[in-house]
Amino acid sequence: MARILTGIQSTGVPHLGNVLGAIRPAIQLADGSSDESFLFIADLHSLTQIKDGAELRANTYAVAAAWLACGLDTDKTVFYRQSDVPQCTELAWYLSCFYPYSRLTLAHSFKDKADRLEDVNAGLFSYPMLMAADILAYDANEVPVGKDQLQHLEMARDVAGRINHKVGSAVLVEPEARTNDATMYVPGTDGAKMSKSKGNTIDPFADEKTLKKVINKQITTDATPLEDPKDPDSSVVYQLFQLVASESDAADMAAKLRAGGYGWGHAKKDLLGALVDGFAQERDTFNRYMADLPALDAELAKGADKARGVANATVNRLRTALGY
Ligand code: ADP
Ligand code: TRP
Repeated sequence: MARILTGIQSTGVPHLGNVLGAIRPAIQLADGSSDESFLFIADLHSLTQIKDGAELRANTYAVAAAWLACGLDTDKTVFYRQSDVPQCTELAWYLSCFYPYSRLTLAHSFKDKADRLEDVNAGLFSYPMLMAADILAYDANEVPVGKDQLQHLEMARDVAGRINHKVGSAVLVEPEARTNDATMYVPGTDGAKMSKSKGNTIDPFADEKTLKKVINKQITTDATPLEDPKDPDSSVVYQLFQLVASESDAADMAAKLRAGGYGWGHAKKDLLGALVDGFAQERDTFNRYMADLPALDAELAKGADKARGVANATVNRLRTALGY
């Protein structure tokens, strides 16, 4: 049985793209597998960017509530906050002492910002060592990541190999990356890829009134008159509808658009209905957790207990091997 582990950035309420492209597939994968899975919110990595405590906490809660609302089973998946496991920061120090400075200067997380060194804190520079610690502390075998994280994964393997070589035993497990390149593409309200940095997101946990405003005001449609036939495939309204509605409802909308006599206003109304109904249960659970933070804390604490036990064993093994 392999141990699969991955971390998620906590940078706000997950949007429809995150839910359909990352959260649901990850939960389906975990549900259908006999592997052991660890999933954590990388709130220490967030500190490289976010210095406001209230914002850090709010982001973590929103991410946790979204995963739980989408059906993450915390009896199957060890689900925790990175900052609840201080063993990782200790391990990050040991790793840093075995990793060449010159290699860290090549990390994209740092290099992308290296032309504005005044904005780079030492935490951002050593980001890959904290990420390596996140993985190595749990003896993870496989790490599902996007392609942008492959270099960090390579660094985690590299530093584990260097330490194992130095101490003369396989004290750390060298992890494999598992890339998820067959990811879904969810368009934003402007037709470009939905992304929080582009301000084109849809929040599936929002209430009907908010969703209605976003759909009506932000999704632009052409001026084809109501009676005329319309091409469903070139419309964001239809593309989004297709992703959230049933196959037969999507076929129905496509036929109505092609036939004419069905306007963009009708299509937007149907999209709103599909989002409101399709995420009703998730929205309920999300709101319940956001209104009961102690319940959310309790779920995360359950995972943190298990996580600390595993991380402690690894760090103790390494402490001994290093002579402490
Ligand atoms: P953002 O682009 O909003 O900053 P992230 O980069 O934090 O989102 O993405 C987190 C996860 O959600 C990744 O696994 C990514 O592949 C997935 N994801 C983000 N946006 C989309 C989208 N528009 N369509 C499909 N998947 C997405
Ligand atoms: N750096 C990852 C990202 O930006 C998040 C992350 C932190 C992570 N630690 C990790 C991912 C450990 C996988 C394993 O998406």
